[in-house]
Amino acid sequence: MKTNDLDDVFCTMLCDIYQAETLLVDAIPKMVDAASDPVLKEGLRRHLGETEQQVERLEQIHEELSKPIKNIPCAPVQEMIDAGDLMYGNAKEGPVRDAAIIATAQKIEHYEIASYGTLIGLAQSLGYSASVIEKLRQALAEEKSADAALSSAACERINAAAMAKAA
Ligand SMILES: [Fe+2]
Ligand SMILES: [Fe+2]
Repeated sequence: MKTNDLDDVFCTMLCDIYQAETLLVDAIPKMVDAASDPVLKEGLRRHLGETEQQVERLEQIHEELSKPIKNIPCAPVQEMIDAGDLMYGNAKEGPVRDAAIIATAQKIEHYEIASYGTLIGLAQSLGYSASVIEKLRQALAEEKSADAALSSAACERINAAAMAKAA
């Protein structure tokens, strides 16, 4: 039966981002191992810690709203992880591989930014509690800050180092 309930849209989005975050808890350590730049490694490690906390906060939201977590595979993030593995796996260790890791991570960050942005809007429209909205806002801020740090790493150091290597 087709849903006519906005809450169902919210719940589907919430389960999707939950599955995405759990995939990332496994995927980010592989990026850390593959990266060479120490600042990039440290930034990825820090974001892994945030991602683990995001999983916990999403579980708290499900609990607070009495919504079971549906096991909906997050195909888009799985595909971005798989394509990224291939891209940075095929790049030589060093700044070129680091640039490929950043490209992969930023695509995923933008998926997360879009998802949390939409979830905040839906949660506000549905009249959910300040605590639910704050947890989503915190995740959105963390994703934006991770994305900005990746942009800085690429534009201020890694892309130039990769070009110098190629020269
Ligand atoms: Fe996340
Ligand atoms: Fe993220």
